[in-house]
Amino acid sequence: MTRIASATQDELKAQVAQAALAYLVPGQIIGVGTGSTVNRFIEALARVKDQVPAAVSSSQASTERLRALGIAVLDANEVERLSVYIDGADEIDGQGCMIKGGGAALTREKIVAALAERFICIADESKRVARLGSFPLPVEVVPMATAHVARRFHAMGGAATLRMWEGAPMVTDNGQHILDVHGLRIDDPLALESAINQWPGVVTVGIFAQQRAQVCLLGTPQGVKTVSY
Ligand code: A5P
Repeated sequence: MTRIASATQDELKAQVAQAALAYLVPGQIIGVGTGSTVNRFIEALARVKDQVPAAVSSSQASTERLRALGIAVLDANEVERLSVYIDGADEIDGQGCMIKGGGAALTREKIVAALAERFICIADESKRVARLGSFPLPVEVVPMATAHVARRFHAMGGAATLRMWEGAPMVTDNGQHILDVHGLRIDDPLALESAINQWPGVVTVGIFAQQRAQVCLLGTPQGVKTVSY
């Protein structure tokens, strides 16, 4: 039973990964995100890599996958603009606002998204929500500020837990920690993103409203549904 369900979800990811190739501009450098859906996109990219001179990646994990397939990866500082950024999401709402960071790559994802003219979100249909917040909100935090930031979330009704990995606090690609915040009510993603961005010690909040998606390719059993915002 579980095996059938996960195979189906994997097929949906493969479908949207393939559909995302249509958004590449031949000869232009692209932004590549992080996660299991993006991993399928990187596999699909390998078949058209002659059209992709290079990529800017949002994580060490994606960088390694791209390089293993012979796709050059540039530092973000070497690039002024990207035509597209392709990435997944943990949740996406009806305006293209997202929760991201389930894979702990949110800070680099936001940086690469900011360089891109268009954010193309690729996701299976389970990620589509009416309102953000069922998925615990990831927040990358400077380690000395985790308790303080957790108390601020508690004061607004959220329960923040420190993300752990193999018995110790997880350390991101940027040397920081992640708080996962449960139970937040996110009625206005843009306002909440802006407010949390101001808190001392917060590196990046996993609300992507300023860098929301312009297009979402949603994998459904009936095929890929394209939603433009
Ligand atoms: C990585 O930090 C995340 O933002 C991912 O984009 C998100 O978790 C989606 O990942 P999956 O494609 O694995 O669901």
